[in-house]
Amino acid sequence: MKVMMVGDIVGSPGRMAMARIATRYKADGRAEVVIANAENSAAGRGITSTLAEELFAGGADILTMGDHVWDQKESLGLFDRDPRVIRALNLPPGCPGKGAATIQTRAGPLAVVQLMGRTFMGITADCPFRAMEEWLKKNAGAVKMIIVDMHAEATSEKVAMGKFLDGRVSAVLGTHTHIQTADEAVTTRGTAYMTDLGMTGPCDSVIGRTTDAILTRFVTGMPTKFEIASGDVRLHGALLTLDPATGKALKIKRIEEILPSPRG
Ligand SMILES: [Fe+2]
Ligand SMILES: [Fe+2]
Repeated sequence: MKVMMVGDIVGSPGRMAMARIATRYKADGRAEVVIANAENSAAGRGITSTLAEELFAGGADILTMGDHVWDQKESLGLFDRDPRVIRALNLPPGCPGKGAATIQTRAGPLAVVQLMGRTFMGITADCPFRAMEEWLKKNAGAVKMIIVDMHAEATSEKVAMGKFLDGRVSAVLGTHTHIQTADEAVTTRGTAYMTDLGMTGPCDSVIGRTTDAILTRFVTGMPTKFEIASGDVRLHGALLTLDPATGKALKIKRIEEILPSPRG
């Protein structure tokens, strides 16, 4: 089973990249299932119902969110309405939506779970380790292919989650930092791991926002309006090959697709 997971989609450049590349990967058989992190798809802040539809039309099967999950008021109902859009599993009880989704593939069910780190994240979350342990107790018997999106800032917390779930899930893939790491590997126990998938959006930027505005903020400390950049659009993510019979990962391949510049 070939699964693509796409790193944080930022604004309209990211959505355009996602649609072009995911559609191509699906058409030529490189990806049968596409999971995408959409926490920055609405101009950097959250998602809307319309944009979720756009991403599904562009090839996504499951959308995960992150700390920007509640940024768009309009989208709050979406999380209870559409089970294909998930927020982190370990958010406090009472939040809209669910932290996991299962889809039926040609080779059986595949589950996607999102976890939120608690180091330097600025969002209230319960313990992701305990939340995942509970989820596995309830669900591991019914589904073998399990992809975990570990949305966190701290590398150590992501690596620790990879170790915690080693041999128990198909993949632990990090999101949130928008900078792709080069540590992709499949462990001897059959879990694919990568600390951060990177960003799908404008790379001539500071993690997706226009450089000038971010520099002004850092250098002067003055508030500035952050806008989505436009140059050097890339798709970052990873391609997994899973054994559906065991749920083990056989292969992980890091992806960087550079889109042609509109100026040529
Ligand atoms: Fe994030
Ligand atoms: Fe993000």
